[in-house]
Amino acid sequence: MNVILLGAPGAGKGTQAVKLAEKYKIPHISTGDIFRANIKGQTPIGIVAKSYIDKGQLVPDEVTVQIVKDRLEDDDCKVGYLLDGFPRTVAQAEALEKVSKVDAVVNIDVPLEKLLRRITGRRVCSKCGISYHIDFIGDVKKCSECDGELIQRADDNEDTVKQRLDVYVKQTAPLIEFYKSRGVLINVDGDKSVDEVFESISEKLG
Ligand code: AP5
Ligand code: MG
Repeated sequence: MNVILLGAPGAGKGTQAVKLAEKYKIPHISTGDIFRANIKGQTPIGIVAKSYIDKGQLVPDEVTVQIVKDRLEDDDCKVGYLLDGFPRTVAQAEALEKVSKVDAVVNIDVPLEKLLRRITGRRVCSKCGISYHIDFIGDVKKCSECDGELIQRADDNEDTVKQRLDVYVKQTAPLIEFYKSRGVLINVDGDKSVDEVFESISEKLG
């Protein structure tokens, strides 16, 4: 099954992707995670990506599309894939269409005014990458899964988040219509608990 998770920054794509990848036994491919790994490793892609991510802007399509095309050729994608954060522009969606058939696009819908709080309160494990929220964990500083240190993402400050939300509205939201017109869009109310959103996606994916 080839699935895309669509949604604004903070909508819960990463949170749901971890659970869905486990349930459907398909690889979770997050372009944001790929960029952050490259930034950590100070690779040429990481250096380019950082200059955009720090400003809350999208990394140019040609860089992002090539990374995803290469990744989809890996053996583990023969059984399908779960894309998280890609495509994010119509140009990326058109490029993907040329190399792969998408079965379902899950749009996780959360009111924009709730997203700022979700993102600025997020803490991620520096070791395994799992996301937490201070509303649920309080001032806990260690990951409950692997004991790694919980940190705040560099682009999770208020100014950058506002820019990311603006970019989402202008460049990514048009993909909702794009995939609706192709008959593969599944809308899910993301303003519910993590488990409820997961149940709702699972029900609709079958
Ligand atoms: P990326 O890493 O993809 O970030 P994003 O899209 O901004 O989304 P987030 O990761 O912030 O949110 P999420 O939807 O995964 O939410 P999460 O599950 O963590 O991209 C980062 C940057 O990389 C981009 O800005 C861009 O520069 C670049 N980039 C990436 N892909 C690109 C592309 N294709 N093209 C060009 N550039 C690209 O949840 C958020 C918080 O809410 C957490 O604290 C979580 O615990 C909490 N939460 C989750 N679900 C719920 C719930 N149901 N109820 C309450 N709280 C919840
Ligand atoms: Mg994410």
